[in-house]
Amino acid sequence: MSEIQSRDIYHGLPVISKDIKRLTAIVTGANGISGNHQLKVLCENPRRWQKIYALSRRPPHGSWPEHVEHISLDLLQSPENIAAELAKRGVRADYVFFFAYAQPTPKDGEAVWSTDELVVVNKKLLFNFLDGLELNNTIPKRVLLQLGGKYYGMHLGPTSSPQEESDPRVPGGLNFYYEQEDYLKAFAEKHQIGWNTTRPSHIAGAVPDAAMNLCYPLAIYATVQKYLNQPLEYPSDIKAWEAVVAISSARANGYLAEWIVLTEQAKDESFNASDDCLFTWEKFWPKLAERFQMPWTGPDTSDEASYETVIMPHDPPRGYGPPGAFRYRFRLASWAKRPEVQKAWAEIAEKSGLDEKEFRDIDRVFGFTDIAIAMNYSVCLSTTKAKKMGYFGFVDSTESILRVVEEFVGLRMLPPLP
Ligand SMILES: NC(=O)c1ccc[n+]([C@@H]2O[C@H](COP(=O)([O-])OP(=O)(O)OC[C@H]3O[C@@H](n4cnc5c(N)ncnc54)[C@H](OP(=O)(O)O)[C@@H]3O)[C@@H](O)[C@H]2O)c1
Repeated sequence: MSEIQSRDIYHGLPVISKDIKRLTAIVTGANGISGNHQLKVLCENPRRWQKIYALSRRPPHGSWPEHVEHISLDLLQSPENIAAELAKRGVRADYVFFFAYAQPTPKDGEAVWSTDELVVVNKKLLFNFLDGLELNNTIPKRVLLQLGGKYYGMHLGPTSSPQEESDPRVPGGLNFYYEQEDYLKAFAEKHQIGWNTTRPSHIAGAVPDAAMNLCYPLAIYATVQKYLNQPLEYPSDIKAWEAVVAISSARANGYLAEWIVLTEQAKDESFNASDDCLFTWEKFWPKLAERFQMPWTGPDTSDEASYETVIMPHDPPRGYGPPGAFRYRFRLASWAKRPEVQKAWAEIAEKSGLDEKEFRDIDRVFGFTDIAIAMNYSVCLSTTKAKKMGYFGFVDSTESILRVVEEFVGLRMLPPLP
């Protein structure tokens, strides 16, 4: 029987044998929402992880123990250059956790996750890195690559639910996850090592910058609405309000990834990464409002309700039924462009000495939360496979998101909470 333990708000975590020690790791995307939390997880056990190379162009935020060495490395450069830098720094690694990700700004009219450039850039990040490892003969025992719910086509419309790792790939269209996974598998086979991929849903985590951060726009929205004496209005409809949607807390994903690479049975397998907690906006919204001590309103179900409907231009990934359709009374990305909102934020930021006094990149930052809030089909990432192998990690997603909101205060990205 596997032993489990709790760490802070994370429960059901595996107790990993003390005999596993003196390991080395590379974490790419080290300052991003995933890489940063993976580093934190590995740093909890310096005896187990005695050397960690943190790879990203910018260093991870905050201070880190001495055995974490940041290497500023652009993974879009040639494999030869990457190999040379790894050689110069004497990098050797038993395990690799790959979280580098780039999200080019879509051109007008393009959907954010369907651009050719997104595919090209993200393939290059992984391919160049793996080729660089090979050139430098830095061959780890296992490489874990984080993919995501878009593997199931979550971004294209309703998928069959619960989503299981054995589900077939969604045919047609562009999906860099498939190409990354295939390249990693071929690399692993060539070098006779293990591979893993993980598939989180919307990630909850506090970092200064991430291409996609579910929680920060939510926290800004609550802060400004309260400042303006306005309620926390839910922007979408009742279908999205009551849909069960998995949340994947960054730290929980980190615990799962650590267990995966150290578990022989989990070798060469893909896993969903989820809090394993039933989450709906319906249950969460009042709790968010309570945390900010403000009133809230749910979806408008009256006959007079007026919604903008966005119909997804794809067949649904499950292959039958109508396409996905998101409904908005307003979008956070439009809300954030209102002059009174920007003025309020500038005042709040000035008064509290926040680092950024203006919103940046509004469509990217707020647009991601707009999608997550209006997702009206179920995203229930099955955790059955991991459980059968002995992994029972769990975190209450509401507790986790509220914790993340508090962490933004520490990062000087939000004023103190009420
Ligand atoms: N965030 C979510 O909610 C979410 C949900 C599901 C799946 N995912 C997936 O999870 C994976 C990781 O994403 P994430 O959200 O953790 O990403 P993220 O927070 O945006 O972080 C991206 C990381 O990649 C690094 N990076 C970008 N360009 C680079 C380059 N040219 N060379 C080296 N490093 C580079 C960035 O650091 P520098 O810019 O300093 O180099 C940063 O550390 C992606 O496949 C993503 O699709 C994310």
